[in-house]
Amino acid sequence: MSKKILITGGAGFIGSHVVRLFVTKYPEYNIINLDALTYAGNLENLKDIEDNSNYFFERINILDAEAINNVFEKHGITDVIHLAAESHVDRSILSPLDFVYTNIIGTVNLLNTAKAKWAANFSNHIFYHVSTDEVYGALGDTGFFTETTSYHPNSPYSASKASSDHFVRAYAETYHLQTKISNCSNNYGPNHFPEKLIPLFINNIINKKPLPVYGDGKYTRDWLFVKDHAIAIDTVFHKGEVNETYNIGGFNEWKNIDLIKLLCTLMDEKLGRQAGESEQLITYVKDRPGHDRRYAIDATKINTKLGWKPSVTFEQGLSLTIDWYLQNTEWLQHVTSGAYQNYYNEMYSNR
Ligand code: NAD
Ligand code: DAU
Repeated sequence: MSKKILITGGAGFIGSHVVRLFVTKYPEYNIINLDALTYAGNLENLKDIEDNSNYFFERINILDAEAINNVFEKHGITDVIHLAAESHVDRSILSPLDFVYTNIIGTVNLLNTAKAKWAANFSNHIFYHVSTDEVYGALGDTGFFTETTSYHPNSPYSASKASSDHFVRAYAETYHLQTKISNCSNNYGPNHFPEKLIPLFINNIINKKPLPVYGDGKYTRDWLFVKDHAIAIDTVFHKGEVNETYNIGGFNEWKNIDLIKLLCTLMDEKLGRQAGESEQLITYVKDRPGHDRRYAIDATKINTKLGWKPSVTFEQGLSLTIDWYLQNTEWLQHVTSGAYQNYYNEMYSNR
């Protein structure tokens, strides 16, 4: 049976890279991108593949259980790769309920539909939940998150993702749905919405605006190029064991302030500015409440069992990323000005 894969959140940052990879690598599959197009969803991310005959788009909110049911019927969905989520920690601190609705209730809506539609033969179907390393909480100066680290979420965002992971596990245990979960570290790359550290700072450096560093700047993250995450998702989807979890990481820890200084240096070179010019924009500001000190992934399991490892170094990935933003200033202007809504109406109102 040819697969008809529902990818949720496919118009977002990571989802758009996953959709592109699956649409181009597997022409025999139908790929159905289900996305509500919130502020973070942008069909411009997929312009290059939108006319492919195996690609379909459905503008649907995962809070709408009936609409999800209709999409399963219409496209004969065989598998789900679920990425749709509210994804920004700072927004979760301002509006926790938005995260409860989309990340928890939206996930349960998808699980319920998959359970109902696939009940005749669960063994032909996979429900894959794309999750985050933030569910494990914060590390001290040493140690790594493994697949058996206890959950200890500290922000409303990570609490909502931990809850959705638990629901996915519970549906496997209770109803025999075949599931997979991956927990990944911080992604960076093209199409990243400029509210997260790297794209926000690239945008601010371009516009010579202050670079707001939270707290002492010594918080540590493990960065992975987004295309390598998409390849990891492909690997887990096709080769991963059913009902298993895989940690995905970049083997690439950086203190925020060191990463920011590297970014400033690379941007000064690429923009033809004087060495040290962008570093003068660094401004220390009030810390994020509940700020996790350090994340670091032990990705041994996916590496040894499935043969996945990152394909680019951080220096290569960061350079590619900066080049992408410098070449796509229109994309940046659209997502920061709200002009994207006009694009969507123009493109889709008469279809
Ligand atoms: P994103 O915010 O860029 O994109 C989220 C997408 O989901 C958007 O296209 C948005 O329109 C859509 N969406 C939001 N609410 C929806 C709803 N109610 N119904 C339908 N669609 C909705 O997020 P991202 O950074 O690409 O993250 C994707 C997934 O990967 C998330 O589940 C996130 O938790 C996880 N993740 C992200 C990272 C990271 O560094 N960005 C790391 C690990 C895991
Ligand atoms: O670890 C995976 C997670 O990584 C994903 O699950 C989340 O969806 C994703 O947003 C990301 O979360 P973070 O909170 O780590 O990413 P963010 O880019 O918001 O922040 C990275 C670090 O930079 C963090 O220590 C906070 C700091 N920061 C962030 C911003 C936006 C600043 O110092 N200043 C800023 O303006």
